[in-house]
Amino acid sequence: MLYKKLSNGINMPMLGLGTFKVTEGEAYDTVLAALKMGYRHIDTAQVYGNEASVGRAIKDSGIPREDIFVTTKLSPVNLGYEEAINELQVSLEKMGLTYVDLYLIHWPSPSNTLNQLTWRGMEVCYEKRMARAIGVSNFKIHHMDALLKTARIQPMANQIELHPGLYQLPTQQYLNEKNIATISYGPFMKGEVFLETGPYYPVLKEIADIHNATVAQVIIAWGLKRGILMIPKSVTVSRIQENLGALDLVLSDDEVKAINQLNRGRRIYTDPDNNSFVKQH
Ligand SMILES: NC(=O)c1ccc[n+]([C@@H]2O[C@H](COP(=O)([O-])OP(=O)(O)OC[C@H]3O[C@@H](n4cnc5c(N)ncnc54)[C@H](OP(=O)(O)O)[C@@H]3O)[C@@H](O)[C@H]2O)c1
Repeated sequence: MLYKKLSNGINMPMLGLGTFKVTEGEAYDTVLAALKMGYRHIDTAQVYGNEASVGRAIKDSGIPREDIFVTTKLSPVNLGYEEAINELQVSLEKMGLTYVDLYLIHWPSPSNTLNQLTWRGMEVCYEKRMARAIGVSNFKIHHMDALLKTARIQPMANQIELHPGLYQLPTQQYLNEKNIATISYGPFMKGEVFLETGPYYPVLKEIADIHNATVAQVIIAWGLKRGILMIPKSVTVSRIQENLGALDLVLSDDEVKAINQLNRGRRIYTDPDNNSFVKQH
């Protein structure tokens, strides 16, 4: 496994398993299979509704807790100082854990004041060691700038939509300068990268063929080479294994550049400036 050292010195496995849209019924078998294969990083969230199964799979895997990296995220409808603390307590109880490794604010509110208040609650979670690291998700540069004005503890990571159609180089550069790790979500663009007639596939497939790899592996290896943490989701055992195989694939700088050139600023998920499902103030 490859690891990235976060700004507070803890090691985070650079490849993890995403669990969005993995039902409580599917999550146990999927997470257990991934852990047995060698995954050591599981990405869940309060809104995914599968934390209990994720926790059971971690326990039943028999792998020491300290060897597994677990991320969860504060629900966007529960932003607030006390909410950040209380909702993590609920997550821990559901998962049967005493701490998570990373706790993220799932989506920013349009209210910077509410984000700042929520962040104070995240800081308490960190100080109480309920979370070994804290961070944000879907924060654009302007959200980050506002948060950092009042943060006592700087976020250690930002999980953002990032894939061949949305390379996020400016945001990554901003985060790198502040020693905040970038985590990619949605790497396969809800399947768009696999469309043979689409703008991404021919370039990705050509690179994959050179390395005797798959398009999915090329995308994961592209992120890893850029220093980005990758959390592809699958409930299919063969794909979970295939995605793990990306750890053995090292792309050249020219190949990374060729994939960067596929960027067209294409968002597949909600624009964080237009997220009506988030607590507004
Ligand atoms: N912070 C946020 O707001 C946010 C938002 C979205 C996602 N996320 C996180 O990021 C994770 C990944 O993003 P995502 O779930 O949107 O999508 P994704 O990882 O880009 O794609 C998942 C889709 O690709 C398929 N797939 C997986 N591996 C494949 C392979 N090797 N070959 C072909 N198809 C493959 C999966 O199918 P099967 O499952 O049927 O195999 C599934 O349909 C999420 O699960 C979640 O943990 C975070």
